[in-house]
Amino acid sequence: MDSFSSLIRTASHEQHVEAETSTFMSDLLGGRLGVDAYARYTEQLWFVYEALESATGHLAGDPVAGPFVQPELLRLPALERDLAHLRGPDWRAGLTALPATRAYADRVRECAEGWPGGYVAHHYTRYLGDLSGGQIIRDRAEKTWGFARKGDGVRFYVFEEIGNPAAFKRGYRELLDAIGVDELEQQRIVGECKRAFALNTAVFRALGEEFPLTA
Ligand code: HEM
Repeated sequence: MDSFSSLIRTASHEQHVEAETSTFMSDLLGGRLGVDAYARYTEQLWFVYEALESATGHLAGDPVAGPFVQPELLRLPALERDLAHLRGPDWRAGLTALPATRAYADRVRECAEGWPGGYVAHHYTRYLGDLSGGQIIRDRAEKTWGFARKGDGVRFYVFEEIGNPAAFKRGYRELLDAIGVDELEQQRIVGECKRAFALNTAVFRALGEEFPLTA
């Protein structure tokens, strides 16, 4: 039988391509959008990470989700610095979640509160993605909008405490493979991972509608 890490990776591959090639992401990576679109996207991420990371306290001791809770992953402080840079010191006052973002964050919170396996699915979808494709987004953002390399505006993509992302990802996959749940629960987690990708794609769709290239 395939390892759980390859199972979850393979199962979400198709949706990964969909997210990666969404109109909003393509336009963002293609340098065709203004910094306002990037800021709006960063604001949406704040709601998602707020949901993911406000749960870490009570999940740290959980036998299934606990091993994934690692302080070097936490993104909220970096996101807040980016938002202060992008929107100014009053960034909190103007912060609003799109309905799709609200739905995504609500689902993360629901899993965090009642289903540790589901939380792992959301954790994997975000953090492993940020450690991978996130680096491509950072590079494009620096070039398109002139942020300092790994500086304010793109700190979300910089994992200061992870010296070797490739090694970290290997370790993360080992944690996935060591997850202490039966095959049925593994299937459920894979299903939640697909849902997590769909929730991300829905946010991209909404952002694409807010920032169309042709008015
Ligand atoms: C333009 C956007 C994106 C690009 C260019 C991109 C690129 C990549 C690349 C190159 C990898 C492979 C890393 C490796 O093999 O170690 C990867 C992995 C991953 N990406 Fe993305 N990605 C993007 C968007 C997303 C989004 C929106 C999500 C979900 C929210 C996501 C989630 C993931 C996950 C979970 C992995 C880890 C797969 C695994 O090894 O288990 N990515 N991405």
